[in-house]
Amino acid sequence: MVNKKLLYTDKKIQIFLKFAFISDLLSNKSMDITVEKSKPLKGTIEIPADKSITHRAFMFSALTKGKMLVSNYSRGADCMSTLKIIQNLGCEVNFINEKQVLINAKNAIKPSTAPLDCGNSGTTTRLMMGILSGQKFNSKLFGDISLSKRPMKRVIVPLEEMGAKFIHNDYKLPIEIEGADLHGITYNSPLASAQVKSCLLLAGLYADGTTYFTEPYKSRNHTELMFEYMGADINIENNTVSVKKSTLNPTDITICGDISSAAFFIVAALITPDSDITIKNAGINITRSGILDVLKEMNGDIEIINERIISNEKVADIKVRYSNLKAAAVEGAIIPRLIDEIPALVIAATQAEGTTIIKDAQDLRNKEADRISAVAGEFKKLGADITETSDGFIINGKTILEGDCEIECFHDHRIAMSAYTAGLICKKPIKINEFQWVDISFPEFLALHSKLTIN
Ligand code: S3P
Repeated sequence: MVNKKLLYTDKKIQIFLKFAFISDLLSNKSMDITVEKSKPLKGTIEIPADKSITHRAFMFSALTKGKMLVSNYSRGADCMSTLKIIQNLGCEVNFINEKQVLINAKNAIKPSTAPLDCGNSGTTTRLMMGILSGQKFNSKLFGDISLSKRPMKRVIVPLEEMGAKFIHNDYKLPIEIEGADLHGITYNSPLASAQVKSCLLLAGLYADGTTYFTEPYKSRNHTELMFEYMGADINIENNTVSVKKSTLNPTDITICGDISSAAFFIVAALITPDSDITIKNAGINITRSGILDVLKEMNGDIEIINERIISNEKVADIKVRYSNLKAAAVEGAIIPRLIDEIPALVIAATQAEGTTIIKDAQDLRNKEADRISAVAGEFKKLGADITETSDGFIINGKTILEGDCEIECFHDHRIAMSAYTAGLICKKPIKINEFQWVDISFPEFLALHSKLTIN
């Protein structure tokens, strides 16, 4: 087990918000670690706040005319990128205590004197593009090496249809946004994407008329739920969401735990013999909980207890015990409900009897890394029987993972955490290079692992 100091203590967050560029901070901080075969995982942890919901709480608070208290926010670097951007756009950011930040929008966002750094965060970029397109001023967005390779055409094309104006680099960052008068459109998205949907709904708050967005399958609906919670004029019918020009009311928000972070611990407990853990306060929104459905279908011993609603989101505690897993077929409508959990699911599949086939997940190639090629390539090194396909994987299980190799993270937090999780059951230790990328979503990852193995 490895020890690591948190990159983001409260003091550091404050210093960072003043001076640092997130991209530089993580790229320059190389942290290689070794993971050894683990003891059983036992005990209870509280999972840190949801990244997707934190982004939205920070951004939406900037669009109100008042003050909003955000409790239990994510301290991951991605959400810090968003927080720093809204600060650069004129919001006052006050850390009240370890868990709460008060955001004062001071009436309206204002032009930033400096270009806005989206760091490694696709959600920050795409949602901010929706917001900034409808302003009366110009802005410029940039990001780190990984983010600068990611496709922005998916938001630029519909935003331009709404009247937005951009200067871009072959539809990639850096992107200049000229504030424009927007009008509503009816957009049939070829992709089930919450980032595209949220981008258009945010632009829709500034557009004349109504903005309609339809997607082939339902993607995560945190924007819709938070819009409702904050009083926007929104309507939802099956896979179509529409919004009329409207304002958001400042409304205090408490953010639930991140099911995507929890997924690594759920899989770790399912595959590490004799494990028995409880994960408290995890968001189980139906548009995010596909991983629970699939792992249960794979014979995973998973129990959902203490269901409740927090700030319009469904939350529960999750009990997980070591299980004899069996293979599953994962495709179609469930994919957007577990897109970020697929690297974790692949580890479970290596330990399941039979052949697991994951299809329709081609958009994994457009994440922080090409997650299809990265997962297949790195897991093969561990000893997994895995074949990369154009839109997913074929995994034959159950395989003994030998380990005894070096894994690369490709600037991708989820590759880092999935390698660590697989390392827990490898026969021999593995080395993970540049593990600091875990800080993008889950700076508390190693500390929580230690908590579950002190037994
Ligand atoms: C996110 C949506 C998903 C997800 C990403 C976060 C969001 O991306 O993969 O990690 O917060 O809206 P897509 O919308 O590109 O599918």
